[in-house]
Amino acid sequence: MSKKDIKLRAIVAPVPTVVVSAYDENEKPDACTLGLYYTCSHRPPCVTIAINSTDRRKTLKSILKSGAFVVHYPDSDQIRETDYLGVETGYNADKLAKIGYTVTKAEKVNAPVINEMPLAIECKVIHTSDIGSHTQVTGQIMNVQAEESMLDANGRIDIEKLDPMVYDEESHSYRHVGRISSRAFVPGAEMKKTFDKEDGVKK
Ligand SMILES: Cc1cc2nc3c(=O)[nH]c(=O)nc-3n(C[C@H](O)[C@H](O)[C@H](O)COP(=O)(O)O)c2cc1C
Repeated sequence: MSKKDIKLRAIVAPVPTVVVSAYDENEKPDACTLGLYYTCSHRPPCVTIAINSTDRRKTLKSILKSGAFVVHYPDSDQIRETDYLGVETGYNADKLAKIGYTVTKAEKVNAPVINEMPLAIECKVIHTSDIGSHTQVTGQIMNVQAEESMLDANGRIDIEKLDPMVYDEESHSYRHVGRISSRAFVPGAEMKKTFDKEDGVKK
């Protein structure tokens, strides 16, 4: 392989596009679109988001004030609305009302669930940390609400049915998830087994 140095940047595609919501000090729902989002613990289940704190972001202020937020996965039919939530600020407009979306208070945290989005992950803020331009906020997942039609026979989320929006930061575009190319943990475990046998490793 021949590698070359490319422009130094923080993000390499792809990432899930999520919409994060929180109540402001007047219990008005704020929401904005994020690409900086990942799972950071299984026990307890936690996620981390990162929101720019050098520019004014109303949703960040509301999350820090209320101590709670909801992460939503929009589906691929909600591209225009999701993109709008990421280019307008709640300081200028009541964004959710503008796009005709409604909210219900989350079951386990003090934050708004967007009724029109198929997957809502209710989080309680447990840690914040300022890193460069962004504030990283870690939330413990207190409840997950999923549209029934998005679930498989085992009650797990079927990614193909959810059809999440994948954000490609390199080309500034949204993509669909691809087909399954392999089961995880299986080819690696098979390879390990072969190497262990060759090396005479006893179980
Ligand atoms: C696809 C996409 C991804 C984004 N990802 C982030 C992000 O990870 N962090 C961030 O601070 N802003 C991100 N933004 C920008 C915010 O959503 C945007 O600044 C928004 O207007 C903030 O709204 P608010 O002031 O109502 O909170 C993203 C926007 C788009 C369209």
